[in-house]
Order: sequence, then structure tokens, then C-alpha cells
Amino acid sequence: MRLAGLISNTKSTLVHTPAWQRLVVHHNDMQHVHMMDLFDKNPDRFSEFSLQFESMLLDYSKNIITHDTMDHLFYLARKQRVKENRDAMFRGEKINNTEGRAVLHTALRNRSGHPVMVDGKDVMPDVLRVLNKMQAFTDKVRSGEWKGYSGKAITDVVNIGIGGSDLGPNMVCRALTPYADRLKVHFVSNVDGTQIENRLMHLNPETTLFIVASKTFTTQETITNANTTRKWFLAHADTTEKDIARHFVAISTNSDAVRKFGIDVANMFEFWDWVGGRYSLWSAIGLSIALYVGMDRFIELLEGAEAMDKHFQNEPFDTNIPVILAMIGIWYGNFFGAESSAILPYDHHLRLLPAYLEQADMESNGKSVDRDGNHTTYSTGKVIWGTEGINGQHAFYQLLHQGTRLIPTDFIASIRSHSCLEEHCNILAANFIAQTEALMRGRNMKETRLQLRNAGVELDEIEKHLPHMTFYGNQPSNSIVLEQLTPRSLGSMLAMYEHKIFVQGVIWNLNSYDQWGVELGKKLARNILDEIEEGRSMYQHDSSTEGLLHWFLEKREN
Ligand code: F6P
Repeated sequence: MRLAGLISNTKSTLVHTPAWQRLVVHHNDMQHVHMMDLFDKNPDRFSEFSLQFESMLLDYSKNIITHDTMDHLFYLARKQRVKENRDAMFRGEKINNTEGRAVLHTALRNRSGHPVMVDGKDVMPDVLRVLNKMQAFTDKVRSGEWKGYSGKAITDVVNIGIGGSDLGPNMVCRALTPYADRLKVHFVSNVDGTQIENRLMHLNPETTLFIVASKTFTTQETITNANTTRKWFLAHADTTEKDIARHFVAISTNSDAVRKFGIDVANMFEFWDWVGGRYSLWSAIGLSIALYVGMDRFIELLEGAEAMDKHFQNEPFDTNIPVILAMIGIWYGNFFGAESSAILPYDHHLRLLPAYLEQADMESNGKSVDRDGNHTTYSTGKVIWGTEGINGQHAFYQLLHQGTRLIPTDFIASIRSHSCLEEHCNILAANFIAQTEALMRGRNMKETRLQLRNAGVELDEIEKHLPHMTFYGNQPSNSIVLEQLTPRSLGSMLAMYEHKIFVQGVIWNLNSYDQWGVELGKKLARNILDEIEEGRSMYQHDSSTEGLLHWFLEKREN
């Protein structure tokens, strides 16, 4: 069946398809297999289950898979028409069926500029026009030619945005800190006034540029922060309304709202409804990145992503990194019942990657209704979480090692660190490699007993300690190793995750590009805000919500 641009193959009957059932049977054979046995049987396992993309290595050998597993998974991918759907996305078909939109973040990094059509119009001239505008603007600001109201050059940039208008550029700026040369870039997202107050306190209005980043330009948190900032700016004795133009720019798809806010549309960087918020860092939403590291580096980021786009489009499934990662994720989520998956970057510059991927993955595939409006009868998006290594080792890894749940992990590391402290680099690398080994290997009773005996522990003590010090292991991991974290390798890795999410959405027959689930909370918050401002309850609530509201109002009065 063909549905508004995406080829649907299921009516929530996915679990009854032969491809799915094959995997059910295969899972019966695999569920008690220990990876250590797979490695013992196959000395070439590492080379057979690892791939190189440019300077990036993916080692997926530490998974509970065999060649048969991958064949069954690729068969499912073929049956769910991953290829056809991928091509539909790149062609600009309206695969976001609930909003009637194309999904074309890939056009933003289409460096060859080949035409990409939406509604009979090539979008590439607009993409290039905005990139040129970004180039001219960043050059001016970075060179000091762009002056603040008092004639001084800009030293600080503040991106005011939330969700996709914050997480992507913030994460990339942190990741590319070693490439930053001139400006300081800050991010304000939370409507909790503490964040904006603390930030403004340290800024000089004469030398600060504010970027109001919002796809819709209606997001309450962003508009509130932007209004507060505007007031703060105008409260300085020597500023006037006309100075706003030198200190505020907007990034949005909504020029009317930008104009209404008081920002000249000449200072607006545009993007389009076919760019999802969580896929928008490649668009003008990346302006803070370009200001921070320069437009050339921003282009390198786009080029890295484009290289991964081509890989995703052209490689057969068995050497296609996003497809492999997606299908391994399906294997654990749908057949082993894994509820979550951890992202563990062993690179301080990637510390915001888990938060970024939380949105990218969970806002995309956290759905229980498929594209055709049917309730799914299978699990969809997993809980994505994580933190930077090594810190996590001293916090939650205990649960990974000895807890009751299967939690697949992605370890991400870079070989050549931007830090020149060699001893630190070596310790970090050793721990990353050791953790993947320990999670898989575990430690059986025999090994534990021997170790305790060698440590001189008394026999009866050994028996007491044995169950606590034995690890089953068999926790799967992917290792994604970059030679170095550069704009290009980062771009490739982020595009890899985007395409992984896309493939999983296709397998589950989801629309990965809407997010209706977040709307209800926003609507209810507007009602409750009215009540808080009025100081009384005005709408029908349950007793808990009513109780909380009254408690808040009463305590506030006191
Ligand atoms: O509420 C969720 C969301 O719509 C995200 O999808 C989006 O990235 C974020 O809010 C911010 O939206 P905007 O860029 O329109 O301000």
C-alpha cells in the first residue's frame, strides 16, 4: 500500500509476517548463547563484524548475533522496504504523513547541489542562498566588522532556543571546542529564570549577539527568554529600540512571528517546514556553530554528513552502517525485550551527545500508533540514555555489569584526542576497551574462585563472596571509534544516527517526523498558567492536579 509518499507494508501485522516470525524462531536458538562462545568458535569474528567508514571504525562483533541473525534482520529490512522508503525520503516525498511534509535534512548537506524537488520546486537554490547569508554574516561577526551599538566588536553569542533549536547546536559546539577561535558561544534553553539571569549577569550588552532560534517562533520557553533578554538589553541606559537590529537575529520558518517580535526580517535566517526541529542543526539553526568555529568548519560538518548520506544510499545492507545499527537495535528491542540503550562517549567533547540523541531518537520513534493509525502490537523506540565515559563507570555501570536487564550500549571514542595529556588519553582508551570486554566476558565462578584463592582469601569466605563477585556478562556493545573528532567525522557520525533512527521507524511503520505527544502537556500548561496568574482554579482537574495547584498558590501567597 502507498501512503502519502511512504510505502507502508504493514497494518500492525508486522509480528505475523514471515520475516518477523523467522526472527522469533531464530531468537529461540540465540537467547541463551554467550558471546564468548561465539568468539571462541570464530577467531575472525572481529574482522567479519566490523566495518570502516572513512576514518571511523564500527566494531559490532560484541553482539549476540551470527551471520544468520544478520541475514534474518536484513530480510526483515527488505520486506519492510527500507530501500524504497529511504529513496522516497531523499527524493523529497512527503513521508511525514500526519503533517503532509517532506523530510529533507539531507538536502541541507547536499553539497553537489543536485536538484531536490518539493511540490515541483527545487529547494536547493534556497538552501544555498541561506548558506551564503550565513557565510556573509559569520564572516562579518567573526572578523569584528559587525559592530555592536557602541561600535565595539562582538565577543559573545547567546543562542536562545530549546529542543532541536538548542540540543543540536549546543552539542556540536561543545564537540568542536578545539576548533573555536574567536567568539564565546552560550546556550539558554530553560524557562527557569535562573538560567537566563545567570547568563545575562556575565554579559556586556555592547558586545553580545543574541540568536533567537525557534522553528515555529511560538515556543513559550524561547519567546519568554527572548523577551526577558530584550528587556535586559533595552534597560541599559545607552540602548534604544533601533540597536536591537545589531544585537538580535532570528532563525525560524515563521517570518511573521519574527517580525511581530521586533526583529527585522533582514536579520532572519530562514529554514523550511521540511526540516524537523531535531534534524535542524544542519540548517540555519547551526548559525551558532558557524559563528563559533567558522563557516568553513560548518561546511566540513555538512560534508561529513553528506558522505554518510551517500554511504546510506549506496551500500548494500550488509555493509551499510546505519542499517546494521538499526537492525541490531530491533533485534534487542523486539526479540530480547531490551527496554533501553545507553550512549557512552569516551570523549569529554561529546558529553552532550547522549542528551542530543535522547531527543533525536525518542521524539522520533516514541510512538505507539503506526503510520496508518493502528496501535502497534510491538515495542517501538527504546529509552535512550547515557553519559560520558569514564564518569558513568563510577556511577551506573554496576547495573550494566550485574543488573537484571539487557542494556545494549554504544561506546564512542576517538583515538587522537585534542588534549595533549598522553597519560590521560591512554587511561581513557584503556577503560573504553576494557569496559566492552568486561561487559561481554563477565567472570564465571571458576575464574572468581581462582582469583580469590590467589588473593589469599579463606575457603569459606570465598564461597560466601562467590555469587556476588561473579558476572554473567553477555552485555552487548557497539564500538564506534573515530580517528579524531573533527567537524567531518562528527557530521558523519550524527548522520549515521539519524539514518539509524529512520530505518527503525520504517521497520516499525512509524512516522518518525511528527511529535504530537508533546503537544498535550503544552496545552495543559497554558491552562494552568492562566490559573496561576489568576490565583484561582478555573478548569476541571483531578484531585492531585487541583491539590498541587492549590498548594502552590497557597504557599506562594505565604
Ligand atoms: O516541543 C517539542 C518541540 O516541538 C521539538 O520538536 C522542537 O525541537 C522544540 O519543541 C522547539 O521548537 P521550536 O524550534 O519551534 O521552538
